[in-house]
Amino acid sequence: MRTKIVTGSFALAVVAAVGGGLVGAGDRGERAGHDRADVAPATDARYRAACGECHMAFQPGLLPAAAWDRVMATLDRHFGDDAQVPPATADAVRDYLAANAADRTDGRRAAGFGSPGAGSATSLPRITETRYFSGKHHDVPARLATGNPQVRSFANCPACHQRAEAGSYNEHEVRIPGAGPWHD
Ligand code: HEC
Ligand code: HEC
Repeated sequence: MRTKIVTGSFALAVVAAVGGGLVGAGDRGERAGHDRADVAPATDARYRAACGECHMAFQPGLLPAAAWDRVMATLDRHFGDDAQVPPATADAVRDYLAANAADRTDGRRAAGFGSPGAGSATSLPRITETRYFSGKHHDVPARLATGNPQVRSFANCPACHQRAEAGSYNEHEVRIPGAGPWHD
């Protein structure tokens, strides 16, 4: 199964490369950096243990530092859950997120996810509510995402992005459960 998925995305990458003559300059730039992760993977063991239990341990490069601070300051009221961790762990996680946040690093997607405006003053910041995220997903119909029993939420990145855990969000690696590879 795993091998099959890898083969599938390799074939897609070849098709993309062969069809390269038709794409614009911006797309070509993204393709040239195809092997580079979009955001650095979340490797910190303490972070993964504290924040990877209920959902993927989101890469720090998916939100700006101020947004991570707000998430860390409200773990007792975390999207309807209690996600509190011991103070020493919270300090380590906060430092890790701050040092590697989208506005503190220069990854490929840093400018997008690092721009302010994630969440309002009253709600918790969400990656899925950044302008950048909305811009990249407005073509994805609700029935394939929130209405899809195998996805349920846009926060479920690995359901559609096969290499989300590795920090890779290339649109050519998208495979939506029940709908197959994405063609836009
Ligand atoms: C007890 C379960 C639980 C733990 C532990 C947990 N979370 Fe969450 N988290 C949730 C739930 C539930 C949501 C809402 C998911 C949704 O809307 O689909 C969420 C959502 C998020 C979101 C917003 C995702 C989006 O929509 O963009 C961020 C950011 C986040 N969590 C960060 C963290 C961090 C950082 C930690 C570790 C300190 C953590 N979470 C630990 C349950 C948890
Ligand atoms: C329901 C499936 C689905 C989920 C869940 C999802 N995505 Fe996507 N994502 C897509 C599709 C489809 C595209 C390509 C959209 C297009 O270009 O038309 C995309 C595109 C992207 C892109 C731009 C890729 C490129 O090559 O320009 C990024 C970055 C991204 N997603 C990040 C995320 C992150 C981070 C999460 C979780 C917080 C997430 N996505 C959750 C389906 C999904």
